[in-house]
Amino acid sequence: MRFDKLTRLLGNAFRPKPEYITITPVTASAPAPTLPPPEALPRHVAIIMDGNGRWATSRGLPRSAGHAAGTEALRDIIRASDDWGIEALSLYAFSTENWSRSKEEVSALMGLLLKYFNSEIDELDEKNVKITILGDVDGMPEPQRQALLNAMARTEDNRGLRLNIALNYGGRAELARAARLLAQAVKDGEIEPGDIDEEEFASKLYTAGLPDVDLLIRTSGEMRTSNFLPWQLAYAEMVFDECYWPDFDRARYMKCLCVYASRDRRFGGVKGQTPSTEKEEAAN
Ligand code: FPP
Repeated sequence: MRFDKLTRLLGNAFRPKPEYITITPVTASAPAPTLPPPEALPRHVAIIMDGNGRWATSRGLPRSAGHAAGTEALRDIIRASDDWGIEALSLYAFSTENWSRSKEEVSALMGLLLKYFNSEIDELDEKNVKITILGDVDGMPEPQRQALLNAMARTEDNRGLRLNIALNYGGRAELARAARLLAQAVKDGEIEPGDIDEEEFASKLYTAGLPDVDLLIRTSGEMRTSNFLPWQLAYAEMVFDECYWPDFDRARYMKCLCVYASRDRRFGGVKGQTPSTEKEEAAN
């Protein structure tokens, strides 16, 4: 081996690991947290509820049992978000890729979905929760499509927690859809191509009118965003919890919120510096 290659390799071995690798997982053994003050809480939390299948398999149960247990966790996390004054909660429940799972699993998930909406809609509406489905509702089976449209229509005027459930959702498909809607608006003479800026683009997303995601939580130890809200996650803090989704509870959620509250968000700026107002000023 050449000497310069050897020193480079040795150098790499002693270089500190990048932050995303050294993030301390939120573990059950961490000290019990208390809820951060309201001003330190994220406005918009997104969750990738991962690990239902592994939770079930590790107990010798069918995967559908993992999804049923995952639905219980979801119920509790929605209630906690409402109790703690989180403005928006976006949950990744079924991706466009999930149709490729076995017929039994897809049908179990669709059954749970229907059951969930039928059993929860009264309580959610009473709590003033506004439900929005992120994704292609028309591509869902008819009974589910009806239940989703009904849930959205019934809670349309509610002003409490904004609960977004991603179903038949793909992030790139959402971006392509926004581009299509913008192209149509140009064609119809409603806007000029030059009018298309970030704000205009965001107005064509399923999350129009909502703040960007502040915190993304993913369970099961996987560290990926999996085509979930690619636009909205641009500046999100990410917290990865090693537990499987059915084991995720209020205490773990609170720990994630504490980790978020301890992060230093700079949005590309430098802390403590007064931002320059003009580009010209900076150029001088
Ligand atoms: C990921 O775990 C989870 C899903 C694909 C489904 C999430 C669904 C629920 C929590 C319940 C149903 C939803 C509603 C809104 C009632 P996985 O199956 O990919 O787990 P694995 O990675 O261990 O296989």
